[in-house]
Amino acid sequence: MFTVPFRAITVLCTIITYAFALPKPEPVPLAEEGITDFLIVEARDELGGRMRSAPFGEPGHQFTVELGANWIQGTQEGNGPANPILVLARNHNLSTAESDFFTSMTTYDQTGAVDYLDVFNNSVDAFTNLTVAAGARVPQSLVDLTARTGYSLMDQKPKTPQEKASEYFQFDWEYAQTPEQSSFVASSWGNNFTYNVDQGGFSGGNLFSIDQRGFKHLIQAEAAEFLNSSQVLLNATVSTIEYSDSAVSVTLTDGTKLNAKYAICTFSLGVLQNDDVRFEPALPGWKAEAIQSMTMFWFDTQYGLYADTERGRYPVWQGLDLENFLPGSGIVFVTVTGDYSERIEALSDAQVQSEVLGVLRAMYPNVTIPDPTAFFFPRWFSDPLYRGSYSNWPASFVTQHHTNLRASLGRLWFSGEALSEKYFGFLHGAYFEGEATGASVAQCLKGQGCAPLPHITKITNSVGYDV
Ligand SMILES: *[C@@H]1O[C@H](CO)[C@@H](O)[C@H](O)[C@H]1NC(C)=O
Ligand SMILES: *[C@@H]1O[C@H](CO)[C@@H](O)[C@H](O)[C@H]1NC(C)=O
Ligand SMILES: *[C@@H]1O[C@H](CO)[C@@H](O)[C@H](O)[C@H]1NC(C)=O
Ligand SMILES: *[C@@H]1O[C@H](CO)[C@@H](O)[C@H](O)[C@H]1NC(C)=O
Ligand SMILES: *[C@@H]1O[C@H](CO)[C@@H](O)[C@H](O)[C@H]1NC(C)=O
Ligand SMILES: *[C@@H]1O[C@H](CO)[C@@H](O)[C@H](O)[C@H]1NC(C)=O
Ligand SMILES: *[C@@H]1O[C@H](CO)[C@@H](O)[C@H](O)[C@H]1NC(C)=O
Repeated sequence: MFTVPFRAITVLCTIITYAFALPKPEPVPLAEEGITDFLIVEARDELGGRMRSAPFGEPGHQFTVELGANWIQGTQEGNGPANPILVLARNHNLSTAESDFFTSMTTYDQTGAVDYLDVFNNSVDAFTNLTVAAGARVPQSLVDLTARTGYSLMDQKPKTPQEKASEYFQFDWEYAQTPEQSSFVASSWGNNFTYNVDQGGFSGGNLFSIDQRGFKHLIQAEAAEFLNSSQVLLNATVSTIEYSDSAVSVTLTDGTKLNAKYAICTFSLGVLQNDDVRFEPALPGWKAEAIQSMTMFWFDTQYGLYADTERGRYPVWQGLDLENFLPGSGIVFVTVTGDYSERIEALSDAQVQSEVLGVLRAMYPNVTIPDPTAFFFPRWFSDPLYRGSYSNWPASFVTQHHTNLRASLGRLWFSGEALSEKYFGFLHGAYFEGEATGASVAQCLKGQGCAPLPHITKITNSVGYDV
């Protein structure tokens, strides 16, 4: 996460740890430059950040399942550019399964299994068309629209539960929010730069981690190759960050004070939004505006598609008890996103389990569905270390806000997935941002043309959406 002679502090989320000192997949500045006097400050008892796993299932029959990041999204086509997470996975022999988002689908509604794959296929095309329409609009306009407006302009106006569930799968399930809540332009970037090879993306493929060491294994194994124990402080929660043009000082909840020349803050956007950490001086208005303008949502996992009359009510189901996944596990995942997930985080496990079983029984009307032997509902929003699982770009968040989200404050730098213009919300976004921030801070430390990231005082968005 970060690095600095004389102790720099990286805070909390460890997603980008590997970006700093590894010889693979690409040489990374800090280690290459011989910078070793740094400290990674991690609130949890292990590295991995939002790559978190847990054993799940009845006693004696447990499997490791992922609570956060679970996919390598966009892999590699031929000898084209490889997603760096794929490279790490290959280097550490991570077990993965091909996840086919579009052609391995069974559809259901409140009456049971009903084939509406024609409607589903139409929604796949409509989403592709949406990304094309957004791109066509960019050169002609300096302002964004919502993805909902984009769909409507194309005359895609889902009305039936089946149409809504299909659109949900294409859109909300990826961005964790509705088309109304999401940027037309940035949601298209989110697709293009990762999945669309013509646009610089890696590939249309997705690999699902089924590694029983947990997806986090690739972070921890990579860290073991270059970190020693004096460079990592676990179980250490940050309470205050004091910053200036000459130093940064971080105070932990146990009162420990760490001083550094530079620090890189990798808190999730949700943590920054919820004031869980105090900044001194208080964050300037332009920074606070940028932080509060982007959004943080959670989502858990994957393919049966269920159309309820209420949009977003337990729509996406994934069986893991499949050949190539976790055969014999008997595990089923269901995903909810956005406002619906916020609603159910307030419910008890028993209430959520009962709602989920109600839906499952509607999907299989002629099958007796027993109560599950184990039930698990991770609550990302309520967890003060995360406050959500990844970021989304709303229409009111303009490119200049994004510049300000990334901007450094004196010797305090920021990094993490939310700061990636091309890959926000993705694990590889965290990787690329970590790499870039590490390189910049290394240059500052070595006196080789330190270039703090500037901010824009007056947001006008006259710069448009060119990347
Ligand atoms: C760990 O790394 C630091 C920084 O390079 C170094 O000072 C220390 O001696 C190392 N400790 C061990 C046990 O290798
Ligand atoms: C962190 O805390 C966990 C339990 O809370 C404990 O098992 C572990 O030993 C601690 N690790 C360190 C490095 O302090
Ligand atoms: C991965 O597997 C290959 C072939 O089995 C082996 O040579 C290599 O050492 C393994 N690498 C790691 C990091 O486990
Ligand atoms: C939907 O698309 C899939 C593959 O893209 C195809 O195999 C299937 O036949 C299509 N189904 C319908 C009903 O159009
Ligand atoms: C997508 O665009 C193509 C090409 O313009 C068009 O033929 C097709 O009907 C569109 N599909 C949807 C669902 O909008
Ligand atoms: C997304 O990719 C399509 C090509 O599939 C392209 O036409 C469009 O301009 C791109 N959209 C954006 C917002 O860059
Ligand atoms: C469920 O059983 C009813 C009555 O036997 C039958 O009409 C219906 O087709 C069955 N539904 C499914 C999804 O098999």
